[in-house]
Amino acid sequence: MKEISVTFLLNGKKTSIKSQTNRTLLEVLRVDLGLTGAKDACGGEGECGACTVILNGKPVNSCMVFIGQVEGTHISTIEGLMEKNVFHRLQKAFVEAGAVQCGFCTPGAILTAKALLDENPHPTDQDIREGLSGNLCRCTGYNKMIDAIHLAEQGGLDD
Ligand code: FES
Ligand code: FES
Repeated sequence: MKEISVTFLLNGKKTSIKSQTNRTLLEVLRVDLGLTGAKDACGGEGECGACTVILNGKPVNSCMVFIGQVEGTHISTIEGLMEKNVFHRLQKAFVEAGAVQCGFCTPGAILTAKALLDENPHPTDQDIREGLSGNLCRCTGYNKMIDAIHLAEQGGLDD
């Protein structure tokens, strides 16, 4: 299998890797770069959203992205959300609202929520439900996530 060099901005830092072309962004993040916040909960079939990262401002299933497709892109993962050891307001709001239960879906859901709020700072419940429709959660029933996103939207937990 052919090996390629790929360079992209990962959580604001220029990152270059060498990889075989048939590998996914999810695999490279977890195995090569040690960023295990993005999860695989559906066998990498694009069904669960647990592997969500933000790619050029949009939430994507990283299991569906081949590594060769990310050349020159900007990628954000859950590991890049904290700033100076302070949790992002969405992370705090998810905890505060009880939207983190087993936690398996949480990194992906938070990144989807971040991309949503970046594009639409005051989403309705319906906007949030539609935004989260690709992020499966078997624990929370989604209402607590909606509460969390409204809480973060209001910035009420910012230090
Ligand atoms: S691992 Fe399930 S959508 Fe990517
Ligand atoms: S908190 Fe368990 S799957 Fe969402």
